Amino acid sequence: MPQFISVTFPNASTELAPIINSAIDSEYLVRYARSLDDYGYNYTLVPYDSSSYDPFTIGATIAAVTKYIKVIIALRPNTMYPTVAAKALATLDQLSSGRVVVHFIAGGSDAEQAKEGDFLQKDQRYARLEEYIRILRRAWESSEPFDWEGHYYQFKQFSNKVRPVKGKVPVSVGGSSDEAYRIGGSLADIFGLWGEPLKETKEQIDRIYAESDKAGRLKSDRPRIWVTFRPILAETDELAWAKAYQTLNLLTENRAKGQGKVLTSALPPQNAGSQRLLDIAARGEIQDRALWYPTVTATNARGASTALVGSAQTISDSILDYVNLGADLISVRGYDNLNDAIDYGRFVLPKVRQALQEREIDASHSLA
Ligand SMILES: Cc1cc2nc3c(=O)[nH]c(=O)nc-3n(C[C@H](O)[C@H](O)[C@H](O)COP(=O)(O)O)c2cc1C
Repeated sequence: MPQFISVTFPNASTELAPIINSAIDSEYLVRYARSLDDYGYNYTLVPYDSSSYDPFTIGATIAAVTKYIKVIIALRPNTMYPTVAAKALATLDQLSSGRVVVHFIAGGSDAEQAKEGDFLQKDQRYARLEEYIRILRRAWESSEPFDWEGHYYQFKQFSNKVRPVKGKVPVSVGGSSDEAYRIGGSLADIFGLWGEPLKETKEQIDRIYAESDKAGRLKSDRPRIWVTFRPILAETDELAWAKAYQTLNLLTENRAKGQGKVLTSALPPQNAGSQRLLDIAARGEIQDRALWYPTVTATNARGASTALVGSAQTISDSILDYVNLGADLISVRGYDNLNDAIDYGRFVLPKVRQALQEREIDASHSLA
């Protein structure tokens, strides 16, 4: 059964109706987080950006006001010493009774990394990430003080008294470069991908699994695959397509006014994941059943940007196509953040779950 991920927003600002320089709206944040709990989501990602809010404090707030949802803290290794991160994550894990996941971002843009003092090249950033994950796991597991003599980190006699509830915090890695596949495949519990067509998604999954096998991991221990979409949902397919074009117009207008996620003058993205999305977008607007790419081009593929357009049935069927490929974490995040999260929770999540339950019942009948 797949599990569903949303993204957390600290206030009512959206890409379609941006509220410039908006502060945290704690009532909104709490309402949003509780809605995810009420509508059956399993996780929420608290993203990281050099100019934005601290994911740990946002994550702690979410955990304090919810019962079930797991909080995925996005973390760039350059922003926190690994022993500090190990304790911060374990602290939040204890506070939330074991509901924390860490999502690592090696860093896809040199300019963005430089804003917070990180001048390593991307392959070095991935090498540092590898060392970082190993340190975190050692810090969570080790009952004795230990030294570290690595390439990026050196320390003596670190002793940790803050343990995650189940011994470790699940580690997720996102990216689409060779280094991402190697490090995520060999070390991660979860591997995060953006929404690509079925064929390309399958190719990426095969790469990740090959790296996992090469690292000597058992097939049962391969990373769980997370795929990300921006569904544009309406009562019928026809209405959803009308909504999709309205969404695209607004994204384009806001970007022209300088209110988009990226300026119109932005350079092509440096991270492999965004480059792949733009290459696919250049091949045509629609892929497979309902995977729609103009939202990718309109935003210079900044972050998750591939739409799935249609009725709840079409979106559910499209998600099931990815579940059939082996994805078992599905991220759905809309453009009208809170209302879309509720709509997916009412109409899409139950459909996907029901279809899979029916499949399981059919399978058990044919075995009987
Ligand atoms: C599911 C998912 C979530 C991501 N979340 C973030 C985020 O919160 N902040 C961020 O800067 N990058 C985020 N990224 C971007 C990548 O992690 C980043 O571009 C990567 O470090 C380098 O990508 P590459 O290997 O594709 O070149 C996310 C990527 C994926 C797939």
